[in-house]
Amino acid sequence: MTLRSAEWYAGSDRNAYIHRAWMRRGNPEDSLDGSKPQIAIANTASDLTPCNKHLNEVAESVKAGIWEAGGVPYNLPVVSLGETQVKPTAMLWRNMAAMAMEEMFRANPIDGLVLLGGCDKTIPALLMAAASVDLPAVVVPGGPMLTGHFRGEALGCGTDVWRLSEEARAGTITNGQFLASEQSMIRSKGHCNTMGTASTMAVVAEALGMTIPGFAGTPAPDARLLSLSHETGRLIVDMVAADRKPSDIMTRDSFLNAIIAVAAVGGSTNSVVHLLAIAGRLGIDLSLDDFDAAGAGVPVMANLQPSGTYLMDDLFRAGGVLAVLAQVGELLHPEPITVTGSPLVDYLADRPVYDDTVIMPRDAPLMANAGIAVLRGNLAPRGALVKPAAATAELLQHTGPAVVFDSIEDMRARIDEPDLEVTADSVLVLRGCGPKGYPGMPEVGNMPLPRKLLEAGVRDMVRISDARMSGTAYGTVILHVSPEAAAGGPLGLVRTGDLITVDLANRALSMAVPDDELAARQESAPTRAAYAAPTRGWAKLYVDHVMQADTGADLDFLVGGSGDRVSRESH
Ligand code: FES
Repeated sequence: MTLRSAEWYAGSDRNAYIHRAWMRRGNPEDSLDGSKPQIAIANTASDLTPCNKHLNEVAESVKAGIWEAGGVPYNLPVVSLGETQVKPTAMLWRNMAAMAMEEMFRANPIDGLVLLGGCDKTIPALLMAAASVDLPAVVVPGGPMLTGHFRGEALGCGTDVWRLSEEARAGTITNGQFLASEQSMIRSKGHCNTMGTASTMAVVAEALGMTIPGFAGTPAPDARLLSLSHETGRLIVDMVAADRKPSDIMTRDSFLNAIIAVAAVGGSTNSVVHLLAIAGRLGIDLSLDDFDAAGAGVPVMANLQPSGTYLMDDLFRAGGVLAVLAQVGELLHPEPITVTGSPLVDYLADRPVYDDTVIMPRDAPLMANAGIAVLRGNLAPRGALVKPAAATAELLQHTGPAVVFDSIEDMRARIDEPDLEVTADSVLVLRGCGPKGYPGMPEVGNMPLPRKLLEAGVRDMVRISDARMSGTAYGTVILHVSPEAAAGGPLGLVRTGDLITVDLANRALSMAVPDDELAARQESAPTRAAYAAPTRGWAKLYVDHVMQADTGADLDFLVGGSGDRVSRESH
């Protein structure tokens, strides 16, 4: 076969000379003779993305495998996003990272891609970019960290930050005790060890078929992470020879498998916007309703925080992600292949469970019929999400008066006011936090509860917003309301005191306000102009072009792909 990279390196003209001469730098003479696949290792390692900091070591193992199989590896640092570090929110930059990656994948003389990701937005951005270029590609998930302990108890990254900070606000622990747990929270290299967004997206990558089966969930410090990375290096050379591309692997059925996998592990609601965006890059017709339909009947098999008790290291010792998928194997579509060329379901035989308190028995799951539910109604015409596994069951059938906040700042300023008119039955509403309104759709949907209710022992309330929620968070939190308030959605019309009904059984989310009254309120509704309007740079491009959460919050002009062709040459 003729390699794509031969368009740069083959021949005896001046341009081929230029491309070859600058790349030699000690590589063997035959590395650029047009016969050897040139493989980019798209590397999100960064000292400022602490969850991915170890990926340079991982890249060395991938490189060894590529050389061994007859390819030529290149480290390609790409935009990286440290979830806990970047302001105003990492989600503002997911599409920018994906766009920059896509352009560099296309512009360079490469035949295949190994995608090194970990922290929340990195695997989604890498998959979006690889889908749009559609060169052979395989994911190396960077792996979760080991479990840290504080005062003899396991700490779940993220989840226990939320829990302990609420306990400190409630006065059941001191602020000093809360701060003392900080040293124990991050025990080792790797990403968050709960079934948060990073762990979920590793599972998603595996269920889509984009990792070596059995790779997702391998802890970052485990020696097997490096041996599987080495194997991945070998594999990508084979994939180039077979011309096995993302569009061959990520089909509509593989997306449905990923939805089922997310449900079975009790995964993050963030997977919805990421899966929709990746599918959009491939031209696959995937909608919110597919999440409800494919995931609703799936039991949560993995007893992991934030829905359950354990952490990713426990899942690994209990049998791993494939053992979870084997529990729901009959629900999975059998056809979709993986990066190896064989179907995912071929890897589910003989996957014993070694600890059924972590991977629970099929007849006694953590929760039956979980998945991610989609609610609609006059409050969310295009849909809103809730993760029943992380919610309080009684609050999923609930009517209560709204307490409305127009922005995060408004919420923070008033939530703990002693005279805030709020009870445990109230429904907290936060708007101005969607893709356009914030901008960037931050993870603030799990609003803190009012201090006076915390002190009275309340630990959950219905919360509704156009924001996202950290995958490590929990509670009766209704998210991704579409359209968002800043895009003219009716969330912008709610007023404090309006009665709001959450009806999970009927998938409904409504406010008891007549249509004519809603029409009258349009005059005074907060609009895009009411929120800070960026005037330059990425934020302006983002706000001008970002789509709503129900279609993945990608930029409208990035939907689909441009393939791997570059038609012009400047030398
Ligand atoms: Fe990086 Fe949680 S902050 S995975």
